[in-house]
Amino acid sequence: MKAVVVCALSTDLSGVTLADVDLPARQPGQVLVRVRATSLNFPDLLMTRGEYQMKPDLPFIAGLELAGEVIEADADAPFKPGDRVFGGQKTGAFAEFAAVDAAVLRLIPGNMDFATAAALGAAYGTAWTALVELGGLKAGQWVLVHGASGGVGLAACDLAKALGARVIATTGSPGKVDALKAACNPDAVIVASGRFREDVAAITDGALCDLVYDPVGGDAFDESTRCVAFGGKLLVVGFAGGRIADISTNIPLIKGFSIVGVRAGEYARRFPERGKAIRDAMLALAAEGKLHPHIDRVLPLSRWKDAYEAMARRAVIGKIVLEPEA
Ligand SMILES: NC(=O)c1ccc[n+]([C@@H]2O[C@H](COP(=O)([O-])OP(=O)(O)OC[C@H]3O[C@@H](n4cnc5c(N)ncnc54)[C@H](OP(=O)(O)O)[C@@H]3O)[C@@H](O)[C@H]2O)c1
Repeated sequence: MKAVVVCALSTDLSGVTLADVDLPARQPGQVLVRVRATSLNFPDLLMTRGEYQMKPDLPFIAGLELAGEVIEADADAPFKPGDRVFGGQKTGAFAEFAAVDAAVLRLIPGNMDFATAAALGAAYGTAWTALVELGGLKAGQWVLVHGASGGVGLAACDLAKALGARVIATTGSPGKVDALKAACNPDAVIVASGRFREDVAAITDGALCDLVYDPVGGDAFDESTRCVAFGGKLLVVGFAGGRIADISTNIPLIKGFSIVGVRAGEYARRFPERGKAIRDAMLALAAEGKLHPHIDRVLPLSRWKDAYEAMARRAVIGKIVLEPEA
């Protein structure tokens, strides 16, 4: 089968190739899935460079989430051949077939298509874990979302709006403002370069934000410590900007806010009941038509490099979906 294989670590994708490899061997507890769609996440890019917290042994098949059809399963598995499923694990999704633990898969709801299911899981699972599960989001609250044009950022904007919150979306790319407004209808958009606390204060009539959702880090995090309301939460989601911020602990004390680390996948693994509850609630909202995963473009798997390069250039609104050729 065709698969995107990381053979060596590289900063320019030179260690990554589309190769013919053996079909994955299905272990007990796993199902074999014919991949129909998969989507790119920032950790996929980091893993080609060895810059992600998880460093799989080389070579490995890239890709952490997929949607497809079950081809083969244990007799007592929760899925049977023909079932439409989505989900994933840290590697193996950018391929024509994947052997996936049944425990991390879910049935695709209703008539949702494969591309939408592949774009939904990681992004909205992260947003839900951060905003709702750990952030305690309530309707009417102000939420500041950084990296709002990206996969987990746009999902957070969409989810927060669906739950009745008021959203200030930020982008570091002025050219994305109109696309961001069209994609998630935020209450305000800020081009977040340098200081933006006064913008946030003006938009919120001085109230500042109950939650800050930060997949960017660095300067965005630093300035966010001035944008979060007393009693609020600063949700640390990632470091797409490349710098991990330092903070003096007197700042959250004096300003009365909490800094909350978000690891959505690990949270679901450690607390499987909560993980299931999050997925169920998310899928129920999706089934009501209240979530709108935004797909920037769909490319054949053979154009994996264009997808990675677009993500590295920050030239994506929402998600890129890759589809193995039929
Ligand atoms: N904690 C968790 O459980 C969890 C789960 C999934 C992902 N993450 C993390 O969340 C972050 C975003 O992931 P993603 O999949 O949403 O990535 P993405 O789709 O590439 O989005 C990242 C966004 O960050 C902004 N950004 C600001 N500075 C950037 C820079 N120097 N390089 C690239 N982007 C920059 C970009 O928006 P603008 O151009 O508009 O500024 C970009 O759209 C990553 O750090 C990832 O590891 C965390």
